[in-house]
Amino acid sequence: MIASLQLHRLDGHAAGTSGVWKPGEMARRAVVVRVAAAPGDLDGIGKIDASYSTDRIYRVRRSELGFWLDEEQVSPPLQKTYSRPSPQLSDRLLVASAGTEIAGYGELRFDSWSRRAEIEGLAVSAGFRGQGVGRSLIQELDERARQEPSTRCLWLETQNVNYPAVQFYRRMGFRLCGLDETLYRPGIPGLLPGEVALYFARDLA
Ligand SMILES: CC(C)(COP(=O)(O)OP(=O)(O)OC[C@H]1O[C@@H](n2cnc3c(N)ncnc32)[C@H](O)[C@@H]1OP(=O)(O)O)[C@@H](O)C(=O)NCCC(=O)NCCS
Repeated sequence: MIASLQLHRLDGHAAGTSGVWKPGEMARRAVVVRVAAAPGDLDGIGKIDASYSTDRIYRVRRSELGFWLDEEQVSPPLQKTYSRPSPQLSDRLLVASAGTEIAGYGELRFDSWSRRAEIEGLAVSAGFRGQGVGRSLIQELDERARQEPSTRCLWLETQNVNYPAVQFYRRMGFRLCGLDETLYRPGIPGLLPGEVALYFARDLA
């Protein structure tokens, strides 16, 4: 499985083992996406800063038999911190590595009943965002999902307050496929008021 995953360069082309330097960006290091292979990768994943800040959210409104999302400005901006991920090594766990540093990670879980490939975790460290790392991770997760026979779609959970992630997933071609206003129990560390689970899916054509 490891050998069949392509390393992915930030400019969107398949790479060798070396990744790519973008001209004129001396501070930016080459990033390659690969299967997490060693305990050091897990340490790196544990150090990823997955927190984010947003001045917009999607407020979930409802009628008796329906829901809709309203874009809403929030001031001051919301700060959200996720608990540090602690996945296990497997061929479904991918890292974006920049030399010895782990810039991001993504993990898949296959649900045999629904035949969905579920993205269990995806994060790019704050200092590496906006450089195509998230796109590369999604691309490789998609390719990994296609290796599992009969898998129909990529599926994931995010939150109505994670406006940046919703923009990212929409840009990646995911569509909203549901929500759950009861999932998050009060008292979960870091839970923000009005936080609702949103689900997105992208077909594996
Ligand atoms: C969401 C996240 C993974 C995106 O990763 P990233 O590396 O910054 O994304 P990329 O640079 O690959 O962006 C890919 C596309 O999404 C768009 N995008 C990314 N973040 C965006 C944002 N905040 N607003 C609007 N568009 C955005 C980019 O413009 C880009 O589009 P383009 O290629 O057409 O220009 C990253 O912001 C992150 O880790 N956030 C914190 C953790 C988190 O929320 N994880 C998701 C939990 S469900």
